[in-house]
Amino acid sequence: MLEVAGLKKVYTTGIFHKHTINAIDNVSFRVEKGETLGIVGESGCGKSTLGRCVLRLTEPTEGKIFFNNVEITSLDKKSMRNLRSKMQMIFQDPDSSLNPRKTIWQSIAEPLQILGIEKNLIEKKVSKLVRHVGLLPEHIDRYPHQLSGGQNQRAVLARALTLEPLLLVADEPTASLDVSVQAQILNLLKSLKKEYGLTMIFISHELELMKHMSDRIAVMYMGKIIETGSTEDIFRTAHHPFTLLLLHGNDAYTEEHSCIKVQGKGCNYYMNCPVRLEKCGYEAPDLKCLKNGHYVACHKVI
Ligand SMILES: Nc1ncnc2c1ncn2[C@@H]1O[C@H](COP(=O)(O)OP(=O)(O)OP(=O)(O)O)[C@@H](O)[C@H]1O
Ligand SMILES: [Mg+2]
Repeated sequence: MLEVAGLKKVYTTGIFHKHTINAIDNVSFRVEKGETLGIVGESGCGKSTLGRCVLRLTEPTEGKIFFNNVEITSLDKKSMRNLRSKMQMIFQDPDSSLNPRKTIWQSIAEPLQILGIEKNLIEKKVSKLVRHVGLLPEHIDRYPHQLSGGQNQRAVLARALTLEPLLLVADEPTASLDVSVQAQILNLLKSLKKEYGLTMIFISHELELMKHMSDRIAVMYMGKIIETGSTEDIFRTAHHPFTLLLLHGNDAYTEEHSCIKVQGKGCNYYMNCPVRLEKCGYEAPDLKCLKNGHYVACHKVI
């Protein structure tokens, strides 16, 4: 369904003192039809940038993206707009997802109205979506500020599903919700995924959530994938010291844990790594295969 090859995104900031940020650094992965790939990593490691680049909402600096075997990186704006109905994103910031001046019904119906679909067909479709995401009929004529965070997130899901997408990128869809509502929305996302036959990229900084949501997991650190494998591989036999830190924590060494970029070409994790070798200071490790589908970028491991 989706293949990403050698993706890079460099941001340049500053006017007088230019500063470049390698937000995504040579990332490659595939997502098979019907599968959920979880992307996990600490704040600022490039998860949202990756999600946005996959849909070309942010233009990648380098690399190729194939969606259903079509190379989308070279498509013009119009073809991309047509294709994007099949690729939807749920954004990290819930306030930016719904128009505050539109009722929930208007927001969900809007993509269908743009396509010029008949009014009673729209009515039917919107009512069905509203029911599927668990909103009550009394909610749909309200504005976003008249609903709870959980109810708004249900409306965001309905809107994302209006055009029957094949791929859904969910960027921390429950980050703003309290724990009990989080569980409801995640369960809903899982059942909608099944019902609509979606392929999904699920982004979160919490590895624990991945256990319930993902078939495979990619762990990111400073713009790179440092370990990837099936959910079982990651939870049972993770090898990279950063994945182990996410899994088990380690107070002694989280204290000095910070995003220090090694000068030159070494491993990004060098300064924080408890098992670093001399080589790690000057040579960045590539992702290497440990066993079927389980890849690790660490000189110490492989
Ligand atoms: N538009 C932008 N211009 C410049 N730098 C940016 C821009 N957007 C993101 N960045 C930088 O790129 C890096 C990756 O940001 P991104 O938002 O992708 O991280 P993230 O993993 O989603 O973090 P979080 O978990 O906090 O959402 C960060 O260092 C961030 O400061
Ligand atoms: Mg983010």
